[in-house]
Amino acid sequence: MAYPYQITSLENYHYQHQKSIQNPEAFWSEIAEHFVWHQKWSKVLNWNFSEPKVEWFKDAKLNITENCIDRWLPSKANDPAIIWEPNDPSETSRTLTYQELHNQVCCFAQVLVNNGAQKGDRICIYMPMVPELTIAVLACARIGAIHSVVFGGFSAQSVSDRIQDAQCNIVVTADGAFRGNKTIPLKPVIDEALINCPSVKKVIVLTRTGQPVSMIEGRDCFWENEMKKVEESGLSSFPAVSMDAEDMLFILYTSGSTGKPKGVVHTCAGYMVWANYTFVNVFQYQPGQVHFCTADIGWITGHSYIVYGPLSAGATTLMFEGIPTWPDAGRFWDIVEKHAVNILYTAPTAIRSLMSFGTDPINNKDLSSLQVLGTVGEPINEEAWHWYDDHVGKNNCPIVDTWWQTETGGIMISNLAGVTKSKPCFATLPLPGIQPVLIDEKGNEIEGNGVSGNLCMKFPWPGMLRTTYGDHERCRTTYFSTYENLYFTGDGCIRDEEGNYRITGRVDDVLNVSGHRIGTAELENAINMHSGVVESAIVGYPHDIKGQGIYAFVIFNGIHIDEEHTKKDINQTVSKIIGAIAKPDKIQFVSGLPKTRSGKIMRRILRKIAEGDTENLGDTTTLLDPAIVEEIKKNRI
Ligand code: WTA
Repeated sequence: MAYPYQITSLENYHYQHQKSIQNPEAFWSEIAEHFVWHQKWSKVLNWNFSEPKVEWFKDAKLNITENCIDRWLPSKANDPAIIWEPNDPSETSRTLTYQELHNQVCCFAQVLVNNGAQKGDRICIYMPMVPELTIAVLACARIGAIHSVVFGGFSAQSVSDRIQDAQCNIVVTADGAFRGNKTIPLKPVIDEALINCPSVKKVIVLTRTGQPVSMIEGRDCFWENEMKKVEESGLSSFPAVSMDAEDMLFILYTSGSTGKPKGVVHTCAGYMVWANYTFVNVFQYQPGQVHFCTADIGWITGHSYIVYGPLSAGATTLMFEGIPTWPDAGRFWDIVEKHAVNILYTAPTAIRSLMSFGTDPINNKDLSSLQVLGTVGEPINEEAWHWYDDHVGKNNCPIVDTWWQTETGGIMISNLAGVTKSKPCFATLPLPGIQPVLIDEKGNEIEGNGVSGNLCMKFPWPGMLRTTYGDHERCRTTYFSTYENLYFTGDGCIRDEEGNYRITGRVDDVLNVSGHRIGTAELENAINMHSGVVESAIVGYPHDIKGQGIYAFVIFNGIHIDEEHTKKDINQTVSKIIGAIAKPDKIQFVSGLPKTRSGKIMRRILRKIAEGDTENLGDTTTLLDPAIVEEIKKNRI
């Protein structure tokens, strides 16, 4: 068997889960034996959730890239590691074998070193979905630098905030990106971002779109030139730097309920074991299969299930540069047919968007290679689940509904494809090592089945976050202080009569828009930056395609040309401060917001109004000015 720790049956799942709870250290130590280490651990797990302090595989030494590349060279040097499908179907796709990936990663590792990178440095990567993005990520890991990938849709301000928070000294970017029929600038965004980032000494620029870019003498250099220099020097491999198990591997910024995004930190060994273990078990990956995860590497899903999970399993991972609806809504299906994709992992929002085009774009495509389907990022609705099952899987492919978070590093609750039962709209059962609990408002555990509550974890798992970069206290207050000795996910959850879990959505002030996390406080701050805005309140409302849409209530007393113009202005501000992904779907101008006497905005009321439920606003007696609610109701969009 390719993966000795691959769960093979429902009984085996129960046995493994049991074992992982009874003796976690023995359980994880056995699994970790199947990886490449420079030195083994002295202790499998040390932990307490009060600081919090979590250490897995203490004193072990390793480099994750040896596990993702070098160890596959003897058996798979000429097997495809990465298949890349460009945005434009008329451009040729590329395949990188494990050997080619090795050469490129080693070469770029040397480029980084030539540009002053050292172990422990933070390197920001702001790139399109091209193989060089994966190469840059792995090259950082090779030299022991900490990568911070920032999604290409974020604005200069957002990139700047993230670079400053992590004090990055190098940025790897591209001239621009292709996305559908658009060409998006990246280097100009970096130039703007860096005005406030004195820590950055070097910018390495890949040529992707060929658009003109300004290059600053001494700071900026081209990827191609730097690689050529190294190639000409005859470098054939770059020795992987030995990392401590608990050294940081990467930082990934994510939104929370406070105004500022936080840098979630993952470390080398635990994350590697977890990304690999979950990949192999949830998707039931078999060597030779083609795995297509449609996420962007700017998000955790891309980190774990395009890069680290698949490559550490010697898999073939498919990277797609474009969007599902361009040149037409059959793009995913063309890719499945062209590359004989076996596993497709995507988000409910993509499924719903493709659903809206009907079945014509899918009917004449050969999807017979598909064996496993997956979904992630938000609760999937019943209709989308069945469409996925009927029209994509032809009722012949198990669907894995995978619940997890940036903070969890990998999948936490999910059925295992074809091995444990699926249930539409349920993530079903916890993976081995995962001990979920449901908690009521008073902080008590709700036992038994057929119940609901706030989802927490009572025991550490190897892939969990270790800290939030530069601010450990924030990590503690955000995740470990709501309930004593528990990790709080921020999600609400149902446990049905059979013990299956269904995640119902966030219970904090975080929206999930098209699978992207958007903090309402962060968005309100951005809107309030507009000079004419006095105050704003953001809530989510059900949206057919995005899952949640963004509804903004805005008090405006600036220069008012006309309503449409002012809305555009506000949208521009949001795009500038955060990025286009956070633009509100609806903006309603109001003369006041419903507040309590102590000045707190009653979001519950705004949420109801945004949802269209204006009759059942609940208790409004604590409101300072009830008349404002009538006004808001009347002018609802
Ligand atoms: C939500 C993405 C229901 C959830 C991997 C979580 C889900 C947040 C599911 C994390 C699912 C993710 N069913 N909800 N299968 N998967 N979520 O950090 O609210 O971008 O807290 O990680 O997405 O989003 P993040």
